Amino acid sequence: MAKTLFIFGTRPEAIKLAPVILHFRETGLDTRVCVTAQHRGLLDQVLEIFRIVPDYDLNVMTPGQSLAQTTSRVMAALDPILQAENPNVVLVQGDTTSTFCGALAAFYRRIPVAHIEAGLRTGDPYQPFPEEINRLLTTRLATLHFPPTQASAENLFREGIDPNRVTVTGNTGIDAVLWVAQRLEAGALVSDFTHLDSSRKLILVTAHRRESFGQGMEDLCRGLLGIAARQDVQLVFPVHPNPNVREPVNRLLGGHPNIMLVDPQPYVNFVDLMRRSYLLLTDSGGVQEEGPSLGKPVLVMRNVTERPEGVYAGALKLVGTAAHQITASVNQLLDDADLYRRMSAVHNVYGDGQAAGRIAELIRSFFDK
Ligand code: UD1
Ligand code: UDP
Repeated sequence: MAKTLFIFGTRPEAIKLAPVILHFRETGLDTRVCVTAQHRGLLDQVLEIFRIVPDYDLNVMTPGQSLAQTTSRVMAALDPILQAENPNVVLVQGDTTSTFCGALAAFYRRIPVAHIEAGLRTGDPYQPFPEEINRLLTTRLATLHFPPTQASAENLFREGIDPNRVTVTGNTGIDAVLWVAQRLEAGALVSDFTHLDSSRKLILVTAHRRESFGQGMEDLCRGLLGIAARQDVQLVFPVHPNPNVREPVNRLLGGHPNIMLVDPQPYVNFVDLMRRSYLLLTDSGGVQEEGPSLGKPVLVMRNVTERPEGVYAGALKLVGTAAHQITASVNQLLDDADLYRRMSAVHNVYGDGQAAGRIAELIRSFFDK
């Protein structure tokens, strides 16, 4: 039987790989897990919820780490593990430093790489930075490609990837969000985030993109101040621990009576907050995908997106990072009931919740021939 090794390191990779790892284990695939812990606290929150205990933990995170520091620490720590385990396939997800390093380290050992969530592109190497280049390079290194949608598969075909090595699976993040949302609905999971004012519309905010650091993040905060002046809304903003986010957000928004700045929320709480939200305001990749699956409109505080399917379907709107544009777009959505109905009517653009099972089957049939 094929031996599989998952390599990942950040919160979104953990959320999107958890259903895949659990599925592999349930179906008896030999499954090892190596976390780089590029994220520490954010990663551990997810591992705990899905009860995943890694076989290897590289524990590389340092406060305020640079891209080069993370890359070199992950590369040095991964190689002995690959040498010792010598798996038949390494699985990586998405476009982080851990994704790219996992693929490169495996390639150096001539171990085939399967890339989950392959083929997302903006076409601009600096948006998002450095993720666009991380995913391009991971594509070059991979043997099997699992794009979430037909549009992401087309991106791979345009780059000359062999169609026989490409299968559209849906995004595994949708498996995760539906799994949690269904259990919240049934009362099998509960959120302990209780301090919400039910008389006001909830706007859930997240922001962490590197290309927005500095002026972009300050503009974005000013846009939030414009929204928070309304009395019919409340903003909840789980603040990403990156110091480039924390500092401007706390300085510009700290103490505002209508903006609740809170720590990053455990995934169960966050899914519950999304369900209870009127709209989502974010620059996150994962939240862009989850919003439509929960019937929530998403306003995207970026200039381009690698997830255009939601824009075409009408669930997502790009609003940039200019303060006036953010405030105006949120006001428009709050005040135009028809627009709101249209944006929240779109469902499951990025997957049907069955992606993990498809990937398990594909790996089994590829390596157990
Ligand atoms: C990383 C990914 C980005 C992904 C994001 C998800 C890269 C280059 N970037 O960005 O693609 O969208 O994660 O959140 O891979 N920190 C903590 N505790 C944590 C996590 C981070 O304190 O649990 C702080 C540390 O000071 C750390 C800093 O955040 O040095 C930056 O973390 P890093 O993983 O380098 O980048 P992110 O901005 O989180
Ligand atoms: N998320 C979470 N708690 C939070 C904020 C986000 O669990 O406080 C989840 C969210 O539901 C999504 C993922 O984290 O599944 C997105 O992570 P992030 O925005 O950090 O990364 P990206 O998706 O942009 O790479």
